[in-house]
Amino acid sequence: MALRKPEPAQYAIRPAETGDLDEIARIERASFRIPWKREFFESELREPYRFTRVLGGDPGLVPRIAGYLFAVSLYEEFHINKIATDPRVRHRGLGRRLLEDAIVRARNIGAESVTLEVRLSNLPAREFYRSYGFHESFRRKSYYQDGEDAFALVLTLAPARR
Ligand SMILES: CC(C)(COP(=O)(O)OP(=O)(O)OC[C@H]1O[C@@H](n2cnc3c(N)ncnc32)[C@H](O)[C@@H]1OP(=O)(O)O)[C@@H](O)C(=O)NCCC(=O)NCCS
Repeated sequence: MALRKPEPAQYAIRPAETGDLDEIARIERASFRIPWKREFFESELREPYRFTRVLGGDPGLVPRIAGYLFAVSLYEEFHINKIATDPRVRHRGLGRRLLEDAIVRARNIGAESVTLEVRLSNLPAREFYRSYGFHESFRRKSYYQDGEDAFALVLTLAPARR
């Protein structure tokens, strides 16, 4: 079968499964200076209060998984631990789909805020979050293993109407 150029519409958000872990780990290595190990993603699939999603493609599509988002609910806070898209399909709105799906989930479970950390040097991601109204609430010194600082980002969610 000839390889088709992947189009964003050919990917759907669904819960992450064990069978996605190799693809997730591959995207992770291509995306982060200090990647999470495959085993770490695997354990997240089993932990409670997690929200683990992938963009899964139609059969035959390359890449099969276009991106993923891993988050955890911590009482009133919905914390995004990981979000990445495959470098081959970036700038096509797939990162937005993952983030918007997570924000909808956070609202639906009554979270008051969505939070995450971002490297100071990660300007594309900082721009991405700023476009949703995340604010850089404070700086965590030497947050990453290589000594770089992080910004802690917060998106405050409006209280649900009753
Ligand atoms: C951040 C990331 C998930 C965005 O994914 P994506 O699939 O490219 O996202 P989208 O195509 O939906 O773009 C969303 C917005 O991000 C911003 N953005 C993305 N890449 C950008 C770049 N290189 N420079 C500036 N802004 C950028 C833009 O605001 C863009 O919106 P627009 O297309 O309407 O201008 C992706 O770049 C990635 O996986 N990066 C590596 C991992 C990472 O840094 N994750 C975040 C860690 S906190």
